[in-house]
This record gives sequence, C-alpha cells and structure tokens, in this order.
Amino acid sequence: MMDEPARLAESFSSYPNGPERERYLRQFVTRFLTMEGIGLLLLDSDFRIVEVSEMICSLAGLQRTEVVNRFAEEWFGAIGLQPQPFDRSLLEGQTFRNRSLIWRQGKHSHKLMLDGEILREKGVGTGAFVLFRDVSHRMALEEEVRRSDRLKTIGQIAAGTAHEIRNPLTAIKGFMQLLSKSLIDRDMDKEQEFVGIVLSELDRVNDLVSDFLLLSKPKEIKQVSMKIGEVLQEILPMIRNEALLYNVTVLYYPKPGLSPILADKELLKQVFLNLGKNAIEAMDGGGNLIIREFSSPCEPDKIALEFRDTGPGIPADVLDKVFDPFFTTKPQGTGLGLSVCQRIVHDLRGNIEVASDRNGTQFIVWLPCFEGPTD
Ligand SMILES: Nc1ncnc2c1ncn2[C@@H]1O[C@H](COP(=O)(O)OP(=O)(O)OP(=O)(O)O)[C@@H](O)[C@H]1O
Ligand SMILES: [Mg+2]
Repeated sequence: MMDEPARLAESFSSYPNGPERERYLRQFVTRFLTMEGIGLLLLDSDFRIVEVSEMICSLAGLQRTEVVNRFAEEWFGAIGLQPQPFDRSLLEGQTFRNRSLIWRQGKHSHKLMLDGEILREKGVGTGAFVLFRDVSHRMALEEEVRRSDRLKTIGQIAAGTAHEIRNPLTAIKGFMQLLSKSLIDRDMDKEQEFVGIVLSELDRVNDLVSDFLLLSKPKEIKQVSMKIGEVLQEILPMIRNEALLYNVTVLYYPKPGLSPILADKELLKQVFLNLGKNAIEAMDGGGNLIIREFSSPCEPDKIALEFRDTGPGIPADVLDKVFDPFFTTKPQGTGLGLSVCQRIVHDLRGNIEVASDRNGTQFIVWLPCFEGPTD
C-alpha cells in the first residue's frame, strides 16, 4: 500500500508542466483578481503598484488603470487612507498578518484584515503583496452573537426582578395619588407639585421595567397580515407632536401598492416610535425626519421602512454600539430603545440596518411580506 507522502509525490509528478501549468496559474490569477471579499495589491521593489484587484478598485471607487503604476504611499494619500495601512518597511521584511483596517466608503465602512508578504528571488527582495479580506459580515455576525448573549443575561436578571420592582411601584403610585388629592384639598400647591414630579418619575421607572420585561421574554407574538403604512399612520400623530417640540419637520412618503407584511402591530408601533423619537432627539436645533416606505429587488420577500434624519450623525466608532443594551449618549436616556427595537424586529423575522455620516442618520427596518392569499 502506498503511504501518504508517496501518493502526494506521485500526484505532483503527474501535474502539468510548462505552458499548461502557466495557463492554469494565469486562469487562477485572473479569477482571483476579480473575487468578491478578497483584494490584492501587488507591489514592486520601489513600492509602486503593479497590480490591483477589483475589490480594492471598487472600495476606492476607481478604475484599475487609475491605480496601477502609482506609488502606494502617494496613492493612499490621494484616496484619504490615513493613517496608511502599511509602508515600505514591508519591503524590508516587516511582514504582517491580520492587520485590521476600517475602509470608509461613503456612509458604509468595511472591516478588512490585511496580510502583507514579501516576494524574493534568489534571496533578494523583488517586491511585496498585500491581501485584503473583507470581514465586515463575519464580524457583524460575531457581534450579533455577543449581543444576543448579553441580551440573554439581561433577560434572566430582568425576568427575576422586574415583577418584584413593579409590585411596590404600584403601591407607591397609589399612595402618591391619594397624597396628591389631599394636598390639593388643602391648597398645598408647592407640595402637590413635588408629588407630581414623583408620579412622573414613577412612570419613567415603570416604562423602564416594561422595556426590561420585553427584553427578557418577548410577549407572545401574534403575527398577522397588515400594511406597513397603516401601522405607521396610527403613531404618526405622536411622532409629529414630539417633532413640534424640537422644531423638526416630518415628511412621510407612503408607497402605494406594496405587499402586506406579517407583523405584530403593537410591537411594531413600539419600534417605529423609538426610531422616530431617536431621530427627533438627534435634531435638537431642528431639521427633517423623512419616513419612507419602499421595496427592493435585492430583498424580494421584504418591505422596508426608512427613518432618515438630518441630524449630526453617529460617529463611526459609536455606530457599532448603538444596539447595545444601556448604550446611550443622552443624560436622560436608558439606552434600551434600540436594543428593544432590534429584539422585536428579529422576533418578527426582519432585520434593522443603520448607516450614518455627518449629514444624518438612516435606520431601515426590513419586515417579511405576507405570503398567503391576498384579498
Ligand atoms: N437618529 C440618531 N441620530 C444620532 N444618534 C442616534 C440616533 N439614534 C440613536 N442614536 C444614538 O444611539 C444611542 C442609543 O439609542 P437608544 O434609542 O438605544 O437609547 P437612547 O435614545 O439613548 O435612550 P432611550 O431610547 O432609552 O430614551 C443614543 O443615545 C444616540 O447616541
Ligand atoms: Mg432612544
């Protein structure tokens, strides 16, 4: 029986040689240069770009001919890649693995992992190459897993304590209301005002506990067929009211003829309210909140609702955290709004996207279409 190394040696010796081998290599390189999710920069001994793959051209928004023959450092400067992801030290043998790079492209940022390697001929360095792997999707998935673990822990704590908090709250509220009445009877306005504040703070704690309960175990979801616009119409007056306080104009663009969605109306209202509230709160000095319904051939089984604001946007390093429970930049915020939204949308088998730059922020909620018979 042939052992493993012998079998390998035999298979290598039967590999095509000469022109045929070159043809295979050429085919491989051509294919490799057009692959999605992986990029290549090939550099000569002067650090000039010899070849570039499609992925990198598309990230830079340039044609291949606009990239090749340029000196890498000068090119990084021209496209605004600062700090430079690597330098000439690569040619001197400073290779690297898994160097991370965030490449911003308009509103989107791509998380890339870079491997840099030197090329040698007879021991002499002749150039280098750098592989770029787009790991945005993988990292997003890992983050999702971490986040849902965190949500689970919060859920367990919440389930155990929320009811215990709520019961005394109900008693306190009841007594406060009684106290308020007798203070009114005695014309004790100032004291009555204090009690009013206590009552409204109690309401806030109550809302917080309700959010907790929702995170812990979503109540039973009743998914029925409905029009996304109908759900929105029911809460639009509330959003418009809030907008007035912040000098924000709400522009709503319904799209007639969209398929119905499958959702739970009360839960969905909560999602839309939270997104509307966040957008309005972001525009303290006034602005526009655009709410738009649409569908896309890329997501044929889903319907989308977009909330776009003209606020200051979310800094790139914060964008990853906005769905984290308790992440807030507001003095009075709980940081539960978006994690509740995400939980609900996931439970409805939809997804929620965010993009942001200095001109504003966009949240898109995708919800599954109703596939049953239409009437
Ligand atoms: N449209 C937006 N524009 C700018 N920043 C936003 C926007 N939406 C959310 N954020 C950021 O995300 C953070 C988290 O939002 P989230 O709704 O989870 O909590 P919150 O609004 O701070 O508190 P709560 O919703 O409990 O009142 C906000 O504090 C804010 O920094
Ligand atoms: Mg919020």
